[in-house]
Amino acid sequence: MNPTASPVSLTRYLIEEQREGRIGPNLRLLIEVVARACKSISIQVGKGALGGVLGDAGSGGEASINVQGEAQKKLDVLSNEILLEANAWGGHLAALASEEMDHCVAIPDEYPRGKYLLLFDPLDGSSNIDVNISVGTIFSVLRCPEDVETVGDEHFLQPGTAQVAAGYCTYGPSTMLVLTIGNGTHAFTLDREIGSFVMTTRGMRIPEETREFAVNMSNQRFWEEPMQQYVGDLLAGKEGPRGKDFNMRWVASMVADVHRILTRGGIFSYPLDSKCAPKGGKLRLMYEANPMAFLVEQAGGAASTGRQRMLDVRPTGLHQRVPVFLGSKNEVEAAVRYHAEHDAQARAVA
Ligand code: AHG
Ligand code: MN
Ligand code: MN
Repeated sequence: MNPTASPVSLTRYLIEEQREGRIGPNLRLLIEVVARACKSISIQVGKGALGGVLGDAGSGGEASINVQGEAQKKLDVLSNEILLEANAWGGHLAALASEEMDHCVAIPDEYPRGKYLLLFDPLDGSSNIDVNISVGTIFSVLRCPEDVETVGDEHFLQPGTAQVAAGYCTYGPSTMLVLTIGNGTHAFTLDREIGSFVMTTRGMRIPEETREFAVNMSNQRFWEEPMQQYVGDLLAGKEGPRGKDFNMRWVASMVADVHRILTRGGIFSYPLDSKCAPKGGKLRLMYEANPMAFLVEQAGGAASTGRQRMLDVRPTGLHQRVPVFLGSKNEVEAAVRYHAEHDAQARAVA
């Protein structure tokens, strides 16, 4: 950021994009409302143990389980409620869908209905809440198909290329909102004193080359063969076929790992493994993979399932899971090559 230029708030950025005809007033309102909800979540997360918000949700010592089959944290539930409440009454949405809810929810009849659909992972990386490590919120915005009377889950099943906006908010040492409306990826830092998001990076660019990868190595023995070969070659370093040493980082909060990659490059992967294969992968296409893929592509990076561009995947279910490779373009392409070569060999043998 140029310290002499006057700061550009999120509001100003959105108004200028509206003036340029890149967004309409309803999408602008939607993004402002999501940003406001993220500020509330940031306040709750920041209270930590003092706010009574740590630990599992549920009662009688039993953690409540969400539609994903995962134990919910109190902050998962609270963040979901904050986003639902903030987005109910503005007139910009037709319906919302969340990682924490079985099905989408339509906007209550008492409020005007808008033309957008909002999807979110209200709190990503929630295994990190109780140990005071960064967590985040991820969101994706789609258009509601025309002439739909009753919005259902099926109306959300649009490929990532149909997203009109996507972003995440990371609750770390500072709270940052990273946003795309299809015209670059921009970062805004929360100025806690004035309560406003201020642009700190216009047009984030992911370096095409990298020496850093992010993966949960404890799953190595469960991975598919091409992933074993790919990471094996990364670990072989200078002496191996890749001819350079690689560093590894894994926060276990996708938001934090992707934020690092958007800032300084790298490849993030949650590949298919024999534990998550029956579900199609670990990470969720609609709430995690697609919004991150949109942000990463808009910053000059790439995102793939290993076998297909992420944004081209035709969703079949709201809670669908997929393998994920995203980040520095050349490195994602290298990982994809390992899959393509492996599959070609397997076809030749068959
Ligand atoms: P969530 O907390 O929304 O369920 O997402 C957790 C995800 C993602 O943030 C992270 O990259 C990954 O799960 C971590 O998985 P492991 O615990 O298997 O490392
Ligand atoms: Mn998540
Ligand atoms: Mn989550």
